[in-house]
Amino acid sequence: MGLERPDPQIIVIFGASGDLTKRKAIPALYNLFRENLLPSNFAVVGFARTPMNREEFRSTMREAVSQHSRSGIAERYWGPFKEHLDYFSGSYSDPSGWIEFRKYLEEVDVDFGTEGRRLYYCATPPSAFPEIIHCIGEMDMAEESRIVVEKPFGYDLGTAHDLNSVVHGVFKEHQIFRIDHYLGKETVQNILVFRFSNGMFEPIWNRSYVESVQIDVTESVGMEGRGSFYEGAGAIRDIVQNHMLQLLATLAMEPPALFDAESIRNEKVKLLRSVRQIDPVETVKGQYTLGVVDGRAVPGYLEEPGVPPGSMTETYAAMKVSIDNWRWAGVPVFLRTGKRMPRRETTITVYFHGAPHLLFEASGLERPRRNHLTIRVQPDEGITLTFGAKVPGPDMKIAPVDMDFDYDESFMSAPAEAYERLILDAMLGDATLFTRADEIERSWQIVEKILPKSPPEPYPAGTWGPAAADELVAPDNWHLRH
Ligand code: BG6
Repeated sequence: MGLERPDPQIIVIFGASGDLTKRKAIPALYNLFRENLLPSNFAVVGFARTPMNREEFRSTMREAVSQHSRSGIAERYWGPFKEHLDYFSGSYSDPSGWIEFRKYLEEVDVDFGTEGRRLYYCATPPSAFPEIIHCIGEMDMAEESRIVVEKPFGYDLGTAHDLNSVVHGVFKEHQIFRIDHYLGKETVQNILVFRFSNGMFEPIWNRSYVESVQIDVTESVGMEGRGSFYEGAGAIRDIVQNHMLQLLATLAMEPPALFDAESIRNEKVKLLRSVRQIDPVETVKGQYTLGVVDGRAVPGYLEEPGVPPGSMTETYAAMKVSIDNWRWAGVPVFLRTGKRMPRRETTITVYFHGAPHLLFEASGLERPRRNHLTIRVQPDEGITLTFGAKVPGPDMKIAPVDMDFDYDESFMSAPAEAYERLILDAMLGDATLFTRADEIERSWQIVEKILPKSPPEPYPAGTWGPAAADELVAPDNWHLRH
């Protein structure tokens, strides 16, 4: 995981005319190039159905980089970078096209000195994954190569299992890199550092000290033109099954034996096996109606393009999760995610038990203000510990105060984009930040009972979701933090 540079290779992006390539993959590769992290011999080959020549592809990617790269675009980097970009237009299902494609890649190997190594990146809609993978196998193109598979990986347990069988038919597990881009976020990796490089937190990281945990992934955006995709997904498939369960696994797993892909993923799978299947009775689903976000009137989900009338797709979900193991038994974990909420925020809040005996009962330090640690995954990345302190003055008044770590302030730099780290690691063959087959299947199993569509509760855009979510947590004498 150091500053090693990958071996020479061709990065083949399937779905190269799509949104993901423009917004994430190419800007990430450009920034890796800018930081001198790519090998000197590399080529990026876009593959898609859309007819386009090399120059058109390069100019579309130039536009994409200037729009989406975190560092903007600078001619002195773009000029040499673009020389590594090429495009091949073809159908994923046409065997003669694949024969031509293989020949073409062999020529690229000669031109760029990439020595036959490939990183295949499936950035297409998921329906195309099996065909692409099958053809790579048929063409004998899997050796000396790795494959990155984007989310969604399956639609439920059965389809995820089928997709695993398809990929395993062609690639060995160590060649497969299933993306969950949350794992590429600096702040998520820092959870491991926070827990396992500091002696003071681990002793209190258990049921004796932790009362409850809340994980929030809230977004203020709505569908952003992805209505028809989202209609087939919903908040549970889009966020809970992957990003939120990964946050939970990272937060709650046992210390791994070693800091390597197998040890870390073994612990995550072990934790996920202890997570009880989520109960529909302990889940609240919501769907936004018209409202106001950031001072702007916005339409409801049913008015979004691509959404059929009467859709029951949830744009919000809150649920209680239980972990049946020695460390966490009896500690409720509340997950909440939603679109069109008041702000974009991914946080993990760990609430500690209150003091066993309150000396200062009249002081106004209410129960919800008990000590808590907030990991701000994004934005405003950092960690805050909140505790009670005496308000200066003659009476015994107590107020919550914060001890704060802020990335910007401490390191003077904003964290890199998750995709940079993930693409680099896939090129290096380091699977630590990718999801293993058993891990993905267990995550689907955990959400299996709450997947069936049921009428969601309406909530106005710009609010914190249906009131029923507060009732869900009320029996635990606990409140969703807003
Ligand atoms: C994606 C979801 O996986 O994550 C999107 O499909 C969501 O719906 C996005 O907006 C959120 O990612 P981030 O990095 O902005 O939190």
